[in-house]
Amino acid sequence: MSEQNWFEDWFNSHYYHLLYSNRSEQEAEDFIKKLVAHLDIQPHSKVLDIACGKGRHARQLASYGHNVTGFDLASESIRLANESRNEHLRFYVHDMRLPFTEDGPFTYAFNFFTSFGYFENDAEDQAAFACFSHALAQKGRLIVDFLNVDYSLGRLVPEEDILRNPITFHIKRSMDGRYFHKSTSFEDDGKSYEFKERVRSLRLENFENLCALNGLQIIETFGDYDLNPYDSQNSPRLIFIAEKL
Ligand SMILES: C[S@@+](CC[C@H](N)C(=O)[O-])C[C@H]1O[C@@H](n2cnc3c(N)ncnc32)[C@H](O)[C@@H]1O
Repeated sequence: MSEQNWFEDWFNSHYYHLLYSNRSEQEAEDFIKKLVAHLDIQPHSKVLDIACGKGRHARQLASYGHNVTGFDLASESIRLANESRNEHLRFYVHDMRLPFTEDGPFTYAFNFFTSFGYFENDAEDQAAFACFSHALAQKGRLIVDFLNVDYSLGRLVPEEDILRNPITFHIKRSMDGRYFHKSTSFEDDGKSYEFKERVRSLRLENFENLCALNGLQIIETFGDYDLNPYDSQNSPRLIFIAEKL
């Protein structure tokens, strides 16, 4: 697998799920509760979870009675998500760089937990935003939850060991101006592994451009999962709502 397409490999691996096994359903439940109330989502709305992983947010959204569709590139995550599939909760393997035509158009499209910024070039980011916009109905809303660049830069932990029995993951982090890099190395069963991840350092103005190029306009921003105001220096997250014009 090429370094360029690292995300096809890493997110589909058993080790990714082991390392991030603490990623909680509770965090998803609390955030979705606040978001559903803030957005005043009407019952039975059609909502899309883009890069849904194992479906922790999609399941919460479905519990409010919405018709939820999730997609992700990682077939292993979709296999696990499909364990909770029902007639109001569907999952697909799909690449966000291509148009998504199932079940839509949607009133809301979500992209949670830094599930963007992985690609090599601007054209791929553009293609993904075209997919997001295309999936939405007129006046539909896109909600993106991304890392906040300045906050993350100021708190970058260069090296860290994380134990997830029986494996100790050795993590290295750096930033080169364009990307945040993370390397995860470990040994299992006498074999050495190294996975490399990278996420573009995209700021609010980059997202404003991507939105503008795809018929979307940012109408609200937040800085954390409690929906406090966004502050570029101090907010842990960059969360925005964009409306399809
Ligand atoms: C950090 S995980 C977050 C997953 C999920 N949103 C959550 O909060 O649990 C990022 C997800 O993006 C997915 N992903 C990466 N590239 C993708 C692509 N081109 N199209 C669709 N999904 C992609 C990965 O497979 C992974 O599940």
